[in-house]
Amino acid sequence: MIIPDAGALCTGIRLKPGKMSKIKIGIIGFGCVGRGLYDVLQKTGGIEAEIVKICVKDRSKPRSLPAHYFTFDRYEIIANPEIDVVVELIDDAEVAFEIVRESVRRGKAVVTANKKMVAERFAELYELQNVYKVPVLYEAACCASIPVIRNLEEYYDNDQLKAIEGIVNGTTNFILSKVSDGRLSYGLALKNAQDNGFAESDPFSDVSGLDAKYKACILTAHAFGLFVEPQRVFNYGIETLSGFDLRYASEKGYKIKLIASVKKIHDKIATWVIPQLVPRENILYQVDQEYNGVLVEAVFSDRQFFIGKGAGSHPTGSAVLSDISALTYNYRYEYKKRQQKQQYEPTNEFELKVYIRFPAGSTLQGLSFLSIEEEYKGRDVQYVVGTLLFSDLLKSPLLSDANVFIAQFPTLTADIHLN
Ligand SMILES: NC(=O)c1ccc[n+]([C@@H]2O[C@H](COP(=O)([O-])OP(=O)(O)OC[C@H]3O[C@@H](n4cnc5c(N)ncnc54)[C@H](OP(=O)(O)O)[C@@H]3O)[C@@H](O)[C@H]2O)c1
Repeated sequence: MIIPDAGALCTGIRLKPGKMSKIKIGIIGFGCVGRGLYDVLQKTGGIEAEIVKICVKDRSKPRSLPAHYFTFDRYEIIANPEIDVVVELIDDAEVAFEIVRESVRRGKAVVTANKKMVAERFAELYELQNVYKVPVLYEAACCASIPVIRNLEEYYDNDQLKAIEGIVNGTTNFILSKVSDGRLSYGLALKNAQDNGFAESDPFSDVSGLDAKYKACILTAHAFGLFVEPQRVFNYGIETLSGFDLRYASEKGYKIKLIASVKKIHDKIATWVIPQLVPRENILYQVDQEYNGVLVEAVFSDRQFFIGKGAGSHPTGSAVLSDISALTYNYRYEYKKRQQKQQYEPTNEFELKVYIRFPAGSTLQGLSFLSIEEEYKGRDVQYVVGTLLFSDLLKSPLLSDANVFIAQFPTLTADIHLN
């Protein structure tokens, strides 16, 4: 429970209704996204914003702007009465949450791109916003330049969503695009993604599916009003992908993509992240390089597809700027799905068709299939394609075996034919 500090409770941020003449912002974090925001802000004509101060960490780093912009003390921003909006763009989720909490308590609106912090602190962020009546916006945290959160909040307000499935991590999609056409090794493709600024500073988060899981949690909250704790959501990444798996995929006409899924199953919600063998007719097959693609399935509007750059300095900076701009007309998330009568529980009880590749001579360690469609035993490797219970897979020791790779066949229906 968050108890407001005496005298700190605000009835609204200082921004007045209607367009303001100039919005004053303080940026905390001036790395890939912070610098992207700065560039976008210089080039756009739509919003009058003034950067009052920028907080960074490393005193020895050379900076691209004059020294008077910078501080190493975040309270020079958080506690600065001149600043309307705190833009939190650091790569540390714990400190990021402290920044958001302290800013909101002081009545400052916050824009953040930190998906880990948002996913892990949903309940607290929700309560902070309710108690202090101050908005915290985070469009850039989920698929960067694709405006998926605001669409889920506003456009799908009255439609009943059935599922969301998407490529939500640009780094892994870039790596998979490069390795599947045989042009780069896994290591070089990762290095290339880092050099281009769309890999996280710690690539483990990308390649293990953790980053995609945080985004899946954010999608779950805005699509179904359910705050799922990331540690209760399954993520399986691409670290154990081998040349054998890539050959299997291409011979069968599939591309391997890391997919986040959120699906309504018998009035419960399943959220998970796993590589999928995506067939040519599935629209996600066409989403390559660092692009993200999100497919939304709803009862009335049927299927819609969003595509855009899910990472990188300028695409992410532009999403942050869009949130800053939204604050000028007092926009805040209302968490509309959470206000509706239907309240959902999470579930792991559903069937999944999977491909499991494991070493020759070893076993599936007790994992049982409901049905098997294909089996192969080679000199070095073997694989099985079949259907199993997802809840059984979650208990399997195969999940942590470095010599095993598991991929799912799509459950969703992403066969949108554009021509
Ligand atoms: N990169 C992307 O494409 C992308 C896309 C969507 C979302 N995001 C999210 O955006 C956020 C920023 O990512 P990024 O790629 O810009 O990270 P980054 O390039 O590693 O930059 C991080 C910045 O934060 C500063 N910083 C770290 N700890 C700090 C602290 N305690 N106090 C003050 N400053 C601190 C660093 O200072 P120094 O400069 O002194 O080192 C640096 O300027 C992350 O949450 C990330 O998940 C990134």
